[in-house]
Amino acid sequence: MLRIAVMVSGGGTNLQAIIDGVKDGTITNTEIVGVISNNRNAYALKRAEENGIPSLCVSPKDYETREIFNEKLLEAVDGLQPDLIVLAGFLVVIPPAMIQKYRNRMINIHPSLIPSFCGKGYYGLKVHEAALERGVKVVGATVHFVDEGTDTGPIILQKAVEVEQGDTPEILQRRVMEQAEWKILPRAIDLIANGRVRVEGNKTVID
Ligand code: GRF
Repeated sequence: MLRIAVMVSGGGTNLQAIIDGVKDGTITNTEIVGVISNNRNAYALKRAEENGIPSLCVSPKDYETREIFNEKLLEAVDGLQPDLIVLAGFLVVIPPAMIQKYRNRMINIHPSLIPSFCGKGYYGLKVHEAALERGVKVVGATVHFVDEGTDTGPIILQKAVEVEQGDTPEILQRRVMEQAEWKILPRAIDLIANGRVRVEGNKTVID
């Protein structure tokens, strides 16, 4: 049984997709052992509570220095003894020690087809604003392993989504969530839970 810890900062619709996936069998061999947020007001925490999933808030605001926060965050994660960490809209920089400790055991969902519209400054609506500004006809989402870079780890799954005439960033964001994020994140977890993802260099092989 794959023990997963989900890290969130906002509304938690990706967390909800994971919760639903475990319930309806889309995600097999997996247990959500906890949800951690940096934001005590994150609706994602309420979603965890409503589903009987242990949750906790570890906020940088509660600690004097970033170093102390980083230690406390890693302590909280380790305390859940996860096999896999899932970053589902987690907006805090992951401590280097955590990236090393959970190399190829920490994944992230990014709302673009990496390497487009990713890296520093590309998060949330900004990703979709940039896509509309550039006038691309296809966008999408990517699940990847987390390494020391920003959105640079080995790609696991991607799914394309059409841009439609008249799209606003909000409309496009929602379509990317519905048609891509909420499908490939649960799928990636299920693949990992069944030992079907191997990392070879900076790429993955799906068996
Ligand atoms: C999603 O758009 C995800 O791609 C990005 O942050 C957002 C999180 O949304 N990483 P939610 O909290 O899962 O609703």
